[in-house]
Amino acid sequence: MVKVAVLGHGTVGSGVVELFQKNAKSITSRAGQEIEVKRILDIREFPDLPYADKFTKDFNEILNDPEISIVAEVMGGLSPAFDFTKSLLEHGKSVVTSNKELVAAKGAQLLAIAKEHNVNYFFEASVGGGIPIIRPMHQCLAANEITEVAGILNGTTNYILTKMIHESVPFDEALATAQQLGYAERNPAADVEGHDACRKICILASLAFGSHVYPHTVYTEGITKLTLDDVAYAENWGGVIKLIGRAKKLDNGKMYATVYPALLSSHSQLAGIDDVFNGILIRGNATGDVVFYGRGAGKFPTASAVVADMIDISKASSTSKSLSWKDSDADNVADYKEAPLQFYIRADLCGAAQPDIADAFGDVTWLSRPGQPADEVAFVTDIMTEYELDDKISTLGNKISVKSMIRVLDY
Ligand code: HSE
Repeated sequence: MVKVAVLGHGTVGSGVVELFQKNAKSITSRAGQEIEVKRILDIREFPDLPYADKFTKDFNEILNDPEISIVAEVMGGLSPAFDFTKSLLEHGKSVVTSNKELVAAKGAQLLAIAKEHNVNYFFEASVGGGIPIIRPMHQCLAANEITEVAGILNGTTNYILTKMIHESVPFDEALATAQQLGYAERNPAADVEGHDACRKICILASLAFGSHVYPHTVYTEGITKLTLDDVAYAENWGGVIKLIGRAKKLDNGKMYATVYPALLSSHSQLAGIDDVFNGILIRGNATGDVVFYGRGAGKFPTASAVVADMIDISKASSTSKSLSWKDSDADNVADYKEAPLQFYIRADLCGAAQPDIADAFGDVTWLSRPGQPADEVAFVTDIMTEYELDDKISTLGNKISVKSMIRVLDY
């Protein structure tokens, strides 16, 4: 019998406890022994739950309980989650988590502490909810050099974009529904401003390229400035706008790591991934592209990954050597503006004509939309760096006013 504890009884924490009850038989058979949730930490009271007797408000009851060998940290946030995780690992307990903020900020350090104490720190649930991605990356794809990772990493924003693209639902209404369904972060700014996707691409990039990628080094732009006009021009171009986190290895040892809304061709493997679903594309030098798809948020999908990590640890005899990366000096990320890309521009003409734009930008693809005002243009440029794009825009001076710029990605 393995005894475990759960820190936090929110959406994911309650899902973890319920999943242990619901799937008790198969979990026991896969783990090779029974796994019992002995304690649940939460500052709130849950007197009506059938397992009310398991709750404690005192972390030390879990830390100092020699029977508890695995703990799920599903509280979220950095504090007190970091101190709790560090203490648990130092006390010889393995920790599993869905806390992407903590893994993105402190992953290298916590993995090193786990290794030092011969225990595990697993975080399958931190990226892609119920989609297996962390374990496939460090185990099943271990024979590859991974050159690129890109994905739709946030269910809430993908749900909102899907509603905007397919049903013309306003942004606020779609966000409110995502919150009711339990997809959104406590502070939805973390979703819509791209911070949640940023944390997830940091984790994937760290694992793929072996050195810690810190969130502050990743250029991050959310979806709050997107309009239904941009969605209509994207459709005319033959594509969709998706919030994409990407990390691409460069020959100089650095990488591009970014999060921004991107224009994708409708033929892209990521273009048809809608609603709360996430999709993650891994480019390996042996496999080519591998795409993982599934529910990226929600109570049971995320709990599924947390419980699977606990089952895995209950069978493990020592610390996982393949799930780790080195710390970094945060100099491993290159200037995103140097990446050669195509760009979508929507602008108001303030004196310029289409020939002026063609003079400045060279060959462009002109776009149209129903109800397009006479003084509005939209076009997609040829490949250039963002520095070159800025130069070209500035040669037109105040003859155009750029309302929207979206990068085009070719996945
Ligand atoms: N708020 C996150 C999302 C939850 O919408 O994807 C899962 O990490």
